[in-house]
Amino acid sequence: MRVRLLGTAAGGGFPQWNCACALCAACRAGSPDVPPRSQDCLAISLDGKDWYLVNASPDLRSQLLAESALAPGPGPRDTPLRGVLLTDAELDHSLGLMLLRESGGLPVWAPPAVLHALAERFPIRDTVGRYGDWRWEPVGSSVAGLTVTSLAVSDKRPKYARESTADGPWVVAYRIEDPATGGVLVYAPCLATWPTGFDEFVAGADCVLLDGTFHSAGEMTGTGTSTAAQHAMGHVPIDGPDGSLARIRSLESPGTRWMYTHLNNTNPVLDRRSPEYRQVVEAGVEVPTDGTSLNL
Ligand code: MLT
Ligand code: MN
Ligand code: ZN
Repeated sequence: MRVRLLGTAAGGGFPQWNCACALCAACRAGSPDVPPRSQDCLAISLDGKDWYLVNASPDLRSQLLAESALAPGPGPRDTPLRGVLLTDAELDHSLGLMLLRESGGLPVWAPPAVLHALAERFPIRDTVGRYGDWRWEPVGSSVAGLTVTSLAVSDKRPKYARESTADGPWVVAYRIEDPATGGVLVYAPCLATWPTGFDEFVAGADCVLLDGTFHSAGEMTGTGTSTAAQHAMGHVPIDGPDGSLARIRSLESPGTRWMYTHLNNTNPVLDRRSPEYRQVVEAGVEVPTDGTSLNL
């Protein structure tokens, strides 16, 4: 299985357009230790010919242009893009569907609550449906020859769907396996806590792409967001006794590459000179940049 990390930042990207914090300023100034990041999104392929997106970020146009494997051709409107898998209905993971309207329509697989939200609360299904022939299906156990297992990880609804009464799960993690190579990728960009069953879900994975939104539980106070409000955003911090790094350290997983993605613009790990970045890499966890490629 081939994997391309098209984007590795949380909603808003890095730098965020309306943010003048020291991290965003260092990034804007072009510091090589603080690379820019577009919004979290992956492309995966079994054979290197047919590609599937996992989440569809608002940065999709530039992400597709930057990735040669996803270049169009040989026919004038041929594209290797075959479909989209969604972990949730958040805008940073679904707005990119709008940018795919020129495709003429694609299959989209997602948890039922997500499909419901994209019809009722943020009716993008109807909007893009006027431009092409889209298929919207609950995610099953296989996508184009890849074995897919979902784990419900959170019932956090997007802000725009707060009043929705649809049954969750609203957020899932995916375990994606190439049956030929046995390669396993786990993709979990939104974890409110370390979920029940997650240790088993990641067991034996070659690579786990994990929610790295926040380094600490109170890091958004500088932007006027309380620790309680940050907690309500549904992202377990990296640091602290209940943080994800402690959980990773406690697992015996010598064959697994751990990587943080979906980094928020407040996260000091974005700066490779920071003690927080050193803490993460010294624990053996990677912080890959946009464009990173994996073969599993
Ligand atoms: C999240 O990950 O919590 C959301 O994407 C926040 C947002 O709306 O940007
Ligand atoms: Mn997000
Ligand atoms: Zn910032």
